[in-house]
Amino acid sequence: MKINIAIDGPAGSGKSTVASLVAEKLGYLYIDTGAMYRALTYQAITHEIKPSEEGSLMQLLNRMDFKLSDEGNQMLVNEELLGEEIRTREVTSHVSEVSAHRLIREAMVKKQQQLATEKGVVLDGRDIGTFVLPDAELKIYLFATATERANRRHQENVQKGIESSYEEIYNDLIERDRYDTSRTYAPLKQADDAEPLDTTNLTITEVIQTIVTRARLKE
Ligand code: C5P
Repeated sequence: MKINIAIDGPAGSGKSTVASLVAEKLGYLYIDTGAMYRALTYQAITHEIKPSEEGSLMQLLNRMDFKLSDEGNQMLVNEELLGEEIRTREVTSHVSEVSAHRLIREAMVKKQQQLATEKGVVLDGRDIGTFVLPDAELKIYLFATATERANRRHQENVQKGIESSYEEIYNDLIERDRYDTSRTYAPLKQADDAEPLDTTNLTITEVIQTIVTRARLKE
């Protein structure tokens, strides 16, 4: 029987990569909730709405329709596939402020729950185990040291030929974690019933294997 899987953790802990590959292995849908907050932030920048303007952000969000691609692993907004435009440094540096607003979070959680009505989904984010899917059968809290997370992201950029500074990435990660863990509403936090998984010294394959094994035991 299919289950639901919640994967939470700090920035750069490999959640998206791991969650999408776990979903592929299990034949599940994959929902990247960070991409949804990033898409809203991108739209806000495009429409010159400040990250502090909750009301205007809400109006924008009400006009955004989120849907999964037919393959069930990519996010569409108003029928358009989300691309690299939501991963720029500008979006990354504003997304935590945008996503700290209570009304925005409540609306997003509702949208995420609507996308995950059937069993057989993997969601990754910051509040999946605590707010979005509190009844998920498997909850994983993925983490690694900040230096390891920054190093991975830096190497990834170098491999893609993207200009990259380790210090900048490290500082961005720390700042985002600080913001995400200290917001008053639904902060990043390990759910009481989540299983912690330290990936500092594990390969991606090992992490995926571990989660798939745990999932199969519960299916
Ligand atoms: O996962 P990703 O790093 O793309 O998420 C971008 C940002 O979106 C996070 O730093 C956080 O501020 C916000 N986020 C959130 N809740 C989620 C997913 C992401 O607040 N469930």
